[in-house]
Amino acid sequence: MLALLDFARAVRDGLSKPGQRELPSIYLYDEIGTALFEAITFLPEYGLTRADERLLRRHAPAILEHLPPPVVVAELGSGTGRKTRWLLETLARREPVNYYPIDISPSALAKCEQELAVLGAVSIVGLEKSYLDGLQHVAVQRRPGQTLLVLFLGSTVGNFDRAAAEQFLREVRRSLLPGDALLLGTDLEKPVAEMLLGYDDPTGVTAAFNLNLLARINRELGGDFALRHFVHEARYDEGERRIEMHLRSLRKQSVTIREAGFTCTLEEGETIWTEACHKYRVEEIPGMAARTGFVCEGQWVDGEWPFAENLWIAAAPAAPS
Ligand SMILES: C[S@@+](CC[C@H](N)C(=O)[O-])C[C@H]1O[C@@H](n2cnc3c(N)ncnc32)[C@H](O)[C@@H]1O
Repeated sequence: MLALLDFARAVRDGLSKPGQRELPSIYLYDEIGTALFEAITFLPEYGLTRADERLLRRHAPAILEHLPPPVVVAELGSGTGRKTRWLLETLARREPVNYYPIDISPSALAKCEQELAVLGAVSIVGLEKSYLDGLQHVAVQRRPGQTLLVLFLGSTVGNFDRAAAEQFLREVRRSLLPGDALLLGTDLEKPVAEMLLGYDDPTGVTAAFNLNLLARINRELGGDFALRHFVHEARYDEGERRIEMHLRSLRKQSVTIREAGFTCTLEEGETIWTEACHKYRVEEIPGMAARTGFVCEGQWVDGEWPFAENLWIAAAPAAPS
């Protein structure tokens, strides 16, 4: 559970950052944010989730072939787990399955448990924890001889800066044993206009998802953001190869956040950066695996929407020389 004090501290620190003000993307996912993200995944402009799901549906048997039974599945940031059913269903034909969705959003976990309850032979234990705490919880409970399969789907890895992503993947590796696996989703580079549309749909669902972060601060921390005086903005940074989501202030305005004991003044045109979505090239993934203690054993790329599912196997640590 995300404590209110941590939320207040993160908001104060992010908004007082010199240069570019920021708010951490983890706070986008309260109950409303989770529902809005779910709606985004159905938008025609956001092909990422459908590509991810197509790959899992088509290639689940080939992916699972690499993993000796019995397999325990942990999913980082599971969301509603809609796509995961294809893997779990295939695995359940082979053996009884223990599945641990890990998410900081209680409403995502509740929906996930509901969505996947139809699968017989799958025992679901939702963990309302952050990625690494949840994974550690699963890792210490696993029994000898079990293979741990960690799912990090939907290109959530793209929310980390590239260096932070590799640091995070090294931390994931530390919870695993040689032979365990990580199935990593990565959204691939595509024409800029197409990428931008995916994060700035004409219906305004992504804008609502982004603005809800300010509304959440108002609800939970006693903030007084006037939402009508902000607009959603998606931009592409060519150098970093990432989409950035911002909230642009339409006028000079002061905002007070009571629970954070904090007031700031935003200039007209100034933005608050709320999320980064890094894009990848399929050929750079095996190098990332090698640098973080894995071997990239397989890659499956969608033909309609450039997106890759990457199967990494935890490598044995190098012997000291
Ligand atoms: C972009 S959504 C992806 C959901 C799903 N995996 C998919 O591919 O559609 C990210 C999910 O991760 C969760 N999340 C974000 N930061 C997290 C963190 N630090 N620890 C655990 N869950 C987190 C959010 O609540 C959300 O459900």
